[in-house]
Amino acid sequence: MAKVKKAYFCKNCGYDAPKWLGRCPSCGEWNTFTEEIIARDSGSNTAAAWAGGNGEPAARPQRVSEISESEHRRIDLGNGEVNRVLGGGLVPGSLVLLGGEPGIGKSTLSLQIALTANGLRTLYVSGEESAEQIRMRAARIGIGNEECLIYPETLLENIVAQIREQKPDLVVIDSIQTIYTELIDSSAGSVSQIRECAATLLKCAKTSGTSIFIIGHITKDGTIAGPKVLEHIVDVVLQFEGDNNYTYRILRGIKNRFGATFEIGVFEMLDAGLREVDNPSEILLTHYDEPLSGISVGASADGIRPYLIEVQALVSGAAYGTPQRSATGYDVRRMNMLLAVLEKRLGMKMFQKDVFLNFAGGFRVADPGLDLAVVSAVISSYYDRPIAEGTCCAGEIGLSGEVRPAPRTEQRVSEAARLGFRRIVVSGYMTKSARRPHGIEIIPIQHIGQLPKALFVEE
Ligand code: TYD
Ligand code: MG
Repeated sequence: MAKVKKAYFCKNCGYDAPKWLGRCPSCGEWNTFTEEIIARDSGSNTAAAWAGGNGEPAARPQRVSEISESEHRRIDLGNGEVNRVLGGGLVPGSLVLLGGEPGIGKSTLSLQIALTANGLRTLYVSGEESAEQIRMRAARIGIGNEECLIYPETLLENIVAQIREQKPDLVVIDSIQTIYTELIDSSAGSVSQIRECAATLLKCAKTSGTSIFIIGHITKDGTIAGPKVLEHIVDVVLQFEGDNNYTYRILRGIKNRFGATFEIGVFEMLDAGLREVDNPSEILLTHYDEPLSGISVGASADGIRPYLIEVQALVSGAAYGTPQRSATGYDVRRMNMLLAVLEKRLGMKMFQKDVFLNFAGGFRVADPGLDLAVVSAVISSYYDRPIAEGTCCAGEIGLSGEVRPAPRTEQRVSEAARLGFRRIVVSGYMTKSARRPHGIEIIPIQHIGQLPKALFVEE
């Protein structure tokens, strides 16, 4: 008979212990242990059942040169943005974790991928919605792939059996927090359930060559709910983010065993699902009838794709002793650092000013190459003077006020020229590039002291 066993799990890292502990010896977090009832048949283990447990011979080590090339084949998902973030398509047999806040569009994105007509056999497993609900959503976003299988189920053993029977190329599990295995008695969504289900799905993906997309919820502090081990188990971790008040969504690679992680995918949420945005600048720039102060444009590069983004700043006299500082889509500490540099190096009296900063479209940016654009917007608002028309900037600012070159400045300049900007302020420390795009004047500066003159051109 199965022995009923209790164990304590760390909610942060998944560490298990026979008794409750105040502090996790593995990750050092306090108060993260929860009690879970686990009943495990001694000897039977889901992972073992998949990995050669059925009498299959275990794999043997191979010479690296002898491993067949077909391993590197990538599946085109029929969605340019997702392909880009995955590093050029999906690797067969990979396990992808898609995280994001509720309502951001994880189910929509994955259903859209499953319904794309690209000749793949897809299985969409939902533990959250009924088949009718999914059918309604599918009708809205358009059914391109009539062969897509919809399977409302939460029991892992049934799901694995269906994967073996249907042999799909791609499986979507919506979501890992709703599925459970019979081998463990604790409820779905608990640490032990998530850990066990993910490990079983990993074995399933690796042995069958089926790629699996796992959807994971996100906790309030922005990390994927469940143990950190979940992120260690999977091959790729993608994060879907955006501001619920805007329709733009960004897909970011956080971990990728088969490619780089700096690529982003941009989408727009419409009535008929998510639209791919191949040219993000189109949505991030506003065309004003007359020049306004406090607005600047930065040439950014997330991944290898450059785009231009509008920055707005409002600098006003502080009503209270302590000035207010707030930034939407930007790190407040970085903003405070830049304001301190302005105060010290340009003598601007920022200590008596409230400063509010805003990036267009609810975009969250962390590109140091946008420092110059942030500072430009602040200077423009401080002096209440609009920046010269058709001007944008790309450069990083150091603590002594020096302007350093932003990574991939050349691509940023080309993108600015392509979008019709006439002047771009960059770092003077940049090596002179051989290829200069036509129609754009490059204004090199070495110190932020030279910035106001570059921004405000006397007519
Ligand atoms: P959903 O994919 O259910 O989010 P998640 O799975 O991440 O919780 O998306 C929910 C939101 O998306 C919902 O508020 C409505 C919106 N939406 C659209 O605007 N258009 C659409 O075509 C669909 C399917 C959803
Ligand atoms: Mg959902």
